[in-house]
Amino acid sequence: AEAIAFYGAHQAGILTPAQDRLHFAAFEVITADRDELIALLQAWTVAAARMCGGDYAGPGGAAGGDYYAPPDDTGEAQGLPASGLTLTIGFGPTLFTDADGVDRFGIADRLPEALRELPPFALDALDPAVSGGDLCVQACANDPQVAVHAIRNLARIGFGTVSQRWSQLGFGRTSSTSTAQSTPRNLMGFKDGTANLKAEDGDLLEKHLWVGADDGADWLTGGSYLVTRRIRMRVETWDRTTLAEQEEIFGRDKSEGAPLGATGEFDEPDFEAEADGVPVIAAKAHIRLAHPTMNGDARMLRRGYSFVDGSDNLGRLDAGLFFIAYQRDPEAGFIPVQRSLSENDVLNEYIEHTSSAIFACPPGVRDEDDWWGRALF
Ligand code: HEM
Repeated sequence: AEAIAFYGAHQAGILTPAQDRLHFAAFEVITADRDELIALLQAWTVAAARMCGGDYAGPGGAAGGDYYAPPDDTGEAQGLPASGLTLTIGFGPTLFTDADGVDRFGIADRLPEALRELPPFALDALDPAVSGGDLCVQACANDPQVAVHAIRNLARIGFGTVSQRWSQLGFGRTSSTSTAQSTPRNLMGFKDGTANLKAEDGDLLEKHLWVGADDGADWLTGGSYLVTRRIRMRVETWDRTTLAEQEEIFGRDKSEGAPLGATGEFDEPDFEAEADGVPVIAAKAHIRLAHPTMNGDARMLRRGYSFVDGSDNLGRLDAGLFFIAYQRDPEAGFIPVQRSLSENDVLNEYIEHTSSAIFACPPGVRDEDDWWGRALF
């Protein structure tokens, strides 16, 4: 029920202990007017601060304003507490320049080197209609209605300035971002988030999560790069796979989540161990391929959610993992790991990446005079 502080050095919703529900939305900016974009970001910041505090999106509330105008708030979160709502904004590469390289809002010279479209990966099955975006807002909360209400009201406020490009609901966190949290399970039934970067990781966060002052984009210092991938799971096929194969694919046991050959969830995996001349953790196990030692010390903060978007026309669940990762530099985080996974992971028989996006998330909003992206304009 508690409210999470909206103001701070970093945006909430990154290191915040992962809430249980997600509504992630990507927008296109449909105005060409820089001042209109700035006005929108300012209006969004005010509404976001209010909603994260458990208040209506606007001062008139759902029914207290002008009777002959649409209400200041859509109303469906009335009576619900803040529910740990966080709203986290990100800017996509297409906000800076259009497809022809034209500077859209006079900020092209501020496009960070690292904010580039992700390279293609083996087996990508991306649908461009639900990929990319000029702006994104990640709404996380412990009540799905609160998360949906927040995105809906931001879209309402943005009417005429932005249009929603795609959005994704998520219903169960698939990571822990604090050692105080127990590790949840993804839709394959495995504990997910065990070896994640966490709020208690001290210096590792400066090294791997937050953009530093010398990283080449002043306005982004204290921010982070966000990569999203909608990963569909072929759950029906997975459910007909033996337990032995399931554990071999991840390199961890299904009940405890311990690395194979160890007993505790948080034991270190021993990648050298062999039994009868065969590696105990398979050469192509997910945790081996994704491990920092295999990818030039690549680390990221994973913050994904499970989704089930109904069934497809063959009666199969349209289900999977909406993967979210934050990092200081995608070239030293997501990209090398995904390259290794996309080329070698046996898990690929059971998954398909259907959407992809990258955003730069600015540092936190300091106080009521500050606004989302101020340092960019
Ligand atoms: C670890 C599941 C996709 C990066 C794990 C673990 C599971 C898992 C069960 C072990 C527990 C843990 O440490 O969290 C999945 C599933 C995926 C998926 C079901 C797709 C549906 C990805 C992708 C990436 C990734 C796309 C990044 C490109 C990692 C990393 C680790 C990990 C870095 C920790 C490795 C370590 O240091 O031990 N994943 N994962 N995963 N995964 Fe994934």
